[in-house]
Amino acid sequence: MAYEVIIPAAGQGKRMQAGKNKLFLKINEMPIFIHTLKIFEQDSSCNQIWLVINPEEEQEMKEWIDKFGIQKNIHFVSGGKERQYSIYNAVKLLENNSVVLVHDAARPFIHTNQIEKLTEVAKENGAAVLAVPIKDTVKKISGDTVDKTIDRSSLWAIQTPQAFRISILKKAYEQAIKDDFLGTDDASLVERLGQEVKIVLGDYDNIKLTTPEDLYFAEAIMQKRKNAKEQE
Ligand code: CTP
Ligand code: MG
Repeated sequence: MAYEVIIPAAGQGKRMQAGKNKLFLKINEMPIFIHTLKIFEQDSSCNQIWLVINPEEEQEMKEWIDKFGIQKNIHFVSGGKERQYSIYNAVKLLENNSVVLVHDAARPFIHTNQIEKLTEVAKENGAAVLAVPIKDTVKKISGDTVDKTIDRSSLWAIQTPQAFRISILKKAYEQAIKDDFLGTDDASLVERLGQEVKIVLGDYDNIKLTTPEDLYFAEAIMQKRKNAKEQE
C-alpha cells in the first residue's frame, strides 16, 4: 500500500559522542542515514520521502546521497530543536490523506515486510506502531533505591516506523503545539486525542543507534544479513 515517509535526521547525536551528527558514521563504508534512505528508495510503495535535516548539514548529506546514487526524489525540510519540532516541520507540508510513516534515520535495519504490515494496520485503524516485548525486568526507582518492580508482561518497547492516517497525525501535532506538550514519540501525541494506536509486532534487529556500543551491534546485524544472503 502506498505511503509517504518522514525521516527525522536533524539531531546532534550527543549520546553517541562522535563529535558530529551520528548519522554520518559509517557501517560497511556507508553512512547510517544512507542505509535508512536506501530501504525507502527501494520500496516501490514509498512515494515521497521527507528528510528532515539540519540546514548546515544539507550540502554534506546531498553529496552522500549523490555518491550512493539515490534516485528517488527527496524533499528536504529544516529541522527544529527537538525531534517533535523537526517532524512537525514536515507534517505541516503533507497534503493528501493517505498514510504517512515517521521513521528515525538512526534505525537503519527496518525490513520492508514490517513496513508493509504496519502501513496496512494504520490504513485500517488510523495509527499503528512497531513494538517488541521488553526483555529486561523493569523497576521503578526512587533516588538510588528500588521502589517497586513493574509487571513486565504488558510492557513493550516502542520503535519506529510509526504510521498514521495523515489527517490524524496533523491534528495530533497541531493539538500538541497548542498545549505545549512535548512527547517522546509521535504516537504519544495521537494517544492524547483519544485515538487508538495499534501495536504491530516488530523485530529486535530494528535497533536505534544511540550510544557507542550500538555500533558493535550494528556491525553484527550487518554481518548476519550478509551471511544469510550468501547462503541464499
Ligand atoms: N532528530 C531530529 N531533530 C532533532 C532531534 C532528533 O530530526 N531535533 C532525529 C535524529 O536525527 C534521529 C531521530 O530523530 O534520527 C531519533 O533521535 P535520537 O536517536 O535521539 O538522535 P539524536 O537526537 O541525534 O541523539 P541524542 O539524543 O543522543 O543527541
Ligand atoms: Mg535525541
